[in-house]
Amino acid sequence: MLRVRVARTSELAAARHHVTMRRSDTDEYHSVLLYSFAGDGKADYYCMEATCPHLGAPLENAHVEQAPDDVEDLVVVCPWHQYDFSLSTGESSTGLKSCVYAVTVHDDEVFIEPPTLDEKDGESVWQIINVRPVSEAFADIKAAEPATHSHAAADAHSGRVDVDAAASFDPSTIPPPDPKPRTLIAWAVLILNTADPLTKVAYTRYAGDAFRNGECRVIGGSERADGTMNPAEVPPETPPRLDSEVCVAPGAEGKRGRGGTERSRIALLHSLANIEQWAIDLAWDIIARAPRLAARMPGKIRMPVHFFSDFVKVACDEAKHFTLLQRRLLEMGSYFGALPVHHGLWQSAIETADDLLARLSIIHLVHEARGLDVNPVTIKKFATAGDTRSVESLTVIHLDEITHVSAGHRWLTYLCQQHDPPLDPVNTFRSCVHHNFVGRLKGPFNAQDRATAGLSPAWYEGLVGEKESTRRGVARAEVPGG
Ligand code: FES
Repeated sequence: MLRVRVARTSELAAARHHVTMRRSDTDEYHSVLLYSFAGDGKADYYCMEATCPHLGAPLENAHVEQAPDDVEDLVVVCPWHQYDFSLSTGESSTGLKSCVYAVTVHDDEVFIEPPTLDEKDGESVWQIINVRPVSEAFADIKAAEPATHSHAAADAHSGRVDVDAAASFDPSTIPPPDPKPRTLIAWAVLILNTADPLTKVAYTRYAGDAFRNGECRVIGGSERADGTMNPAEVPPETPPRLDSEVCVAPGAEGKRGRGGTERSRIALLHSLANIEQWAIDLAWDIIARAPRLAARMPGKIRMPVHFFSDFVKVACDEAKHFTLLQRRLLEMGSYFGALPVHHGLWQSAIETADDLLARLSIIHLVHEARGLDVNPVTIKKFATAGDTRSVESLTVIHLDEITHVSAGHRWLTYLCQQHDPPLDPVNTFRSCVHHNFVGRLKGPFNAQDRATAGLSPAWYEGLVGEKESTRRGVARAEVPGG
């Protein structure tokens, strides 16, 4: 029986892990949940589909209970409509059935049965590309540890640092909106229209929780028969920002330096926090636009719930990243908003607002993929300076970003497969870049992390965009995505 290796038993400390696989021959993706329950000296493992066979709800935060009619069986209870699925057989008392996969342990290595038994050269065509523990813990901002610092930020930025305001950054102090939006798209639009980054982060957490726990299980966002949309589900062209935010043209923020001084590192972290704030909006924006844009494509494509689960996860990650960076800025005596920022990343969003293939290509597979190239260099600068606190946060961010590029690859590939007639994903991506991007994709490329995300060199090598620049510098890959 073919098996694919997941990890060593010691690497699976959490009770459940979300496992993403990709076929090496077709780039098809598949996600499962691997459960482990501590037993007498060894763990019992189970593996089941990551989404509910009823309407596709994400099951990663579902309750696991004892089956009422079999004390030795465990059932996963879907948070959306409470259907139960046996972890042993996948069967449900409703008559539906989920797929379960055999798990084996050999020499302290955990293997799972792949979704299909296709093989190449005696190996499964399925490759594990991501294993993550299911815990969406946010980086909690330590309540204000006020301002004993001030040297770098206050001196460097002429008293701009408002330490009291900055030190209160704590998303848990923001109450949920009242009333709460009724659809996921309405949540997305509410968050897009929220200027304050603290509230944006807090609402992203509430929306992610509501989607996963079944409180919000309607996607929304479709056009009415007359072609209009529910006003609560219409995303803004550009999300607002606080009046206090000083916006300059891309490249005019001032020199950030090479990270050798604290002032330089603050400037680098501030720049990254700006990108993360836009990245929160970009995740919600694609959620808001995808149903309508996909339905207009040849083949009238319907995006599955899993697409929304993936981008809700991306939005929550980006909110976590903003929080991590804000926390670090506070520790260093600065805060987000203390320095000028640019809005260059959003210009690419405006230019791809009506084309889902172009949006996934430019935002997620050009700008975000550029982040994979740049992040290790940035991390090295902070490590060289001995700033281990920042290195920890930047490493978390980098590992998450690989999964975000992978989400872009997954859903661009899906759209190409569903298109009528089907499209070749690599050619489609290159064509989108050619028409929607200015200039050559700049290396050096982080080929290893790009490959993990699904991008072989055939996707990006020698690629030149020939779009006419609409605003100086804004559509270039010099703006790594969040
Ligand atoms: S029971 Fe899971 S989506 Fe309905």
